[in-house]
Amino acid sequence: MTGRPFVVAIDGPAASGKGTLARRLADHLGCPHLDTGLLYRAVARTMLDQGLELTDARAAAAAAASLSPDDLDPSRLRGGDMGEAASVVSVLEPVRDALLAFQRRFAAQPGGAVLDGRDIGTVVCPDAAVKLYVTASPEERARRRFREVAAAGERTSYEAVLDDIRRRDERDAGRAAAPMRAAPDARHLDTTELDAEAAFSAARDLVDAARARRPG
Ligand code: DC
Repeated sequence: MTGRPFVVAIDGPAASGKGTLARRLADHLGCPHLDTGLLYRAVARTMLDQGLELTDARAAAAAAASLSPDDLDPSRLRGGDMGEAASVVSVLEPVRDALLAFQRRFAAQPGGAVLDGRDIGTVVCPDAAVKLYVTASPEERARRRFREVAAAGERTSYEAVLDDIRRRDERDAGRAAAPMRAAPDARHLDTTELDAEAAFSAARDLVDAARARRPG
């Protein structure tokens, strides 16, 4: 056992498959997983529940600072509207600052951890043992997301989902504070042509190779 916990940082745009991959890698490693998008979604949810403007930086930072694990119940945070709202609050630097300590504490657990988001490899865990940047074409991501929301009974169109994905990519990658970006030392995994099984197997090989290289 070496000193530093084994952290896997997974970043990438909406519907790239990074969430499923992160969960499966955490299972494989036997360590906890944090979907950091839930933190931003929970801040947005609190703001909307309280009738506050999503652009109110001070109120949003206060909401971020007082989040509790109970606020992270995914069933209240799913859906494209919450994703869009989360993307809007995530532009605010005070919100990002307020969420940083929570994410770093999670990553510091002695047994290691898997975190997925937009800035894990660049800002939250720049020393992660493995960094993956998971992508897929916007059209393929829109197809996947459309299938999901249609199966859940939401009424929308493929075009609307594609628009939403493009807008979200632009905002998440274009913001000044911790923009969505691959760390220079991240391995890129394009899942456009891969099914979930093939993506997992490629990611697992990278993680296992990194574990085998660890000293001690
Ligand atoms: O992963 P997701 O779709 O649930 O994330 C929702 C939004 O939260 C995303 O569009 C941008 C923001 N986010 C972020 O800025 N940084 C993260 N580490 C995770 C999510």
